[in-house]
Amino acid sequence: MLVPSDAFVFFGATGDLAYKKIFPALQAMVRHGKLEVPIIGVAKQGWTVEQLRERAKQSLIDAKVYNEADFAKLAERLRYVDGDYRELATFETLRKELGDAAHPVHYLAIPPSMFPIVVEKLGTSGCGAGARVVIEKPFGHDLPTSKVLNKVLHTVFDEQAVFRIDHYLGKETVLNLEYFRFANTFLEPIWNRNYVENVQITMAEQFGIKGRGAFYDEAGAIRDVVQNHMLQVVGMLAMEPPATTYRESVRDELVKVFRQIRPLKPSDVVRGQFKGYLDEPGVARRSTKETFAALRLEIDAWRWHGVPFFIRAGKEMPVTVTEVMVELKRPPVTKLIRDRPNYVRLRLSPELDLAIGALVKKPGEDMIGDARELQFAYRAENDGLGPYERLLNDAMEGDPTLFAREDAVEAAWAIVQPVLDDAVPVYTYEPGTWGPKEANALTAATGGWSDPK
Ligand code: BG6
Repeated sequence: MLVPSDAFVFFGATGDLAYKKIFPALQAMVRHGKLEVPIIGVAKQGWTVEQLRERAKQSLIDAKVYNEADFAKLAERLRYVDGDYRELATFETLRKELGDAAHPVHYLAIPPSMFPIVVEKLGTSGCGAGARVVIEKPFGHDLPTSKVLNKVLHTVFDEQAVFRIDHYLGKETVLNLEYFRFANTFLEPIWNRNYVENVQITMAEQFGIKGRGAFYDEAGAIRDVVQNHMLQVVGMLAMEPPATTYRESVRDELVKVFRQIRPLKPSDVVRGQFKGYLDEPGVARRSTKETFAALRLEIDAWRWHGVPFFIRAGKEMPVTVTEVMVELKRPPVTKLIRDRPNYVRLRLSPELDLAIGALVKKPGEDMIGDARELQFAYRAENDGLGPYERLLNDAMEGDPTLFAREDAVEAAWAIVQPVLDDAVPVYTYEPGTWGPKEANALTAATGGWSDPK
């Protein structure tokens, strides 16, 4: 039985992540009656709780979600502990503030370099006993450092008490991948090497790095979105049906997929950097970090033998869209048709949009085909739960299903490890294009990239 948490603590209360993501999620949780516990912000700003309340209010106004009644409830529960994360006294104050809470959630919305310090102090102060810890990606910088991070976390928290947020797993549209695949009888017989020609996943962002130069230049696209978000999408598309009889089944199936993906070779990857990146504040003048990555994966599974999975993720692209194209093999009769007649298209962002590509006879005397889509879409505002609200609810309830498990994080790093940093050259590309032309070679044998419109 899962024991619900009885306090919500967030470190980095005055920071950017709290401002952009945590306060809006907390207000939504309060509104839905999911957060009837003390909410304690921790930071080292010399602030009062009044200042933190003011900051929370401003964040909600900025996010255009401020609601007077809901905010009043949130503000009433909000407490503040001020202090240095390196000092035990800060954590002793926190322990007092927690009162008789025995199963707090500690959300570390702080730079990863601070994780070991805070985790150790949570342990020695007693704040970590019976508690859960929530952390954000990046989970390490590569395979060796992710192992070190996992070891550090496990000095105080069991794996069942560690909640690693990959917000893609909390997205309604990503969860729908799993649902749509397994809930529809017509898909199951074709979702394999016999009918699928190739799978493409494009995560295109029309914007650049939005002032996050210092962070981004440490990471690059492969660490920022491929090792995590994109591989989770591959996992959802490729996994076997999870059993419904035990809680870990989804995570077991996901890690199985990651372990079946062969580690990437440099020839499977093309990296790009948009022109102008080197002038961004925080970016090293001669940086070779990629703002675009295209790659080809193979999944060494019975179901997917011989089916290439392509991923393409980039900044400064022509559109902001995340989309999956599952391209089906051609029926022999359509050999002369140039476009791929049959596919399943799953748009994950900015809104859910599902389509099946089909050929229909053009009205008239001749038997000529017309490529059409049978389509279903709904708008993002119909999403009941934002990813952060969903994930924080789950962490409070102790349900780890939608969080990245230790073995999955390490298996995902093992896939990208051989192509990190400068293992592959980086080509420049013009902002507003689909990346360097070198990326075209990856999909040349399977009919090219399918660019989302
Ligand atoms: C974040 C990355 O994890 O995901 C960003 O650090 C990226 O670079 C973002 O823009 C995309 O998330 P979403 O939910 O806007 O698609």
